[in-house]
Amino acid sequence: MKYIEVVDLAPGRSPVAAETCYRSAQALEAGQILFLPRYQFPVPGSYQALFSPDIVHRHSPNVSYSPATRKLYGTARMGPSLSLLQEMMAGFADFARKTVTRLLPIYRTGLVPARVSFRPIEIETRPMPWRKDVRRLHIDAFPSTPIQGNRILRLFCNVNPAGQTHLWRIGEPFEQTAKRFLPFIRPPFPLSSVALMLTSTTKSRRTFYDHIMLCLQDRMKRDQRYQAEAEQVKVEFPAGSTWLAFTDQVSHATIREQYQLEQTFLLDANRLHDQSTAPLNVLEKLAGRKLV
Ligand code: CO
Repeated sequence: MKYIEVVDLAPGRSPVAAETCYRSAQALEAGQILFLPRYQFPVPGSYQALFSPDIVHRHSPNVSYSPATRKLYGTARMGPSLSLLQEMMAGFADFARKTVTRLLPIYRTGLVPARVSFRPIEIETRPMPWRKDVRRLHIDAFPSTPIQGNRILRLFCNVNPAGQTHLWRIGEPFEQTAKRFLPFIRPPFPLSSVALMLTSTTKSRRTFYDHIMLCLQDRMKRDQRYQAEAEQVKVEFPAGSTWLAFTDQVSHATIREQYQLEQTFLLDANRLHDQSTAPLNVLEKLAGRKLV
């Protein structure tokens, strides 16, 4: 299993060779992390005041930003410092979108930017119940945002001002994890997807696919033996680097991380080169039925 594909993308806006674009999309769709070692979001010195854990509200794990509404969430800051934070988040959203459309032009028409997050608190000191504990191997699935078979593509930048490397664990391929846990996953209660919508728990209908992905995430996180014994490697992301992954497919866990900027995109699954490796297709093949 190959975990990482390195693309030495140069900063700037020059066009990327078609062969590199194709190789990048293929690697992501195969469940690899696309690592851009010398490609980074430029952080000007004027943003220095934002690089402190106390910009995060005490009830929140990180600061987030919606590019669609330009609203900030989870921050304790007010006044000029709030405008500066908003400027950085908007700038990062722009950087992330331009990076994806430059390197992965095939995804351009199906890409919807969701939340941006800024994580200034060291992972070890973030309070997390097991279900939200990103230090355990998991795949991403959102309880309130069903994705109905579309994809979760995330772009991460290590912007640690002290030059600290971020450390992740990457786990076994999606199909292996799915085969392991799918037999234990029960169908949702009849009409529960309607109830979830009526009570505004979900923003749209939670399909059988979304149900399985949430159960899979729980099963992975809860299983201590799986956490310890599943095939996995440690991966380092130095300060000043960028990486991308389909995090609904790549099993990942954070070991060490402080000061990370991240943009989540939802991607129309019809834009993929190869849909056969997507979690929906893998699960439908294993379950022998349609799941959306
Ligand atoms: Co995750």
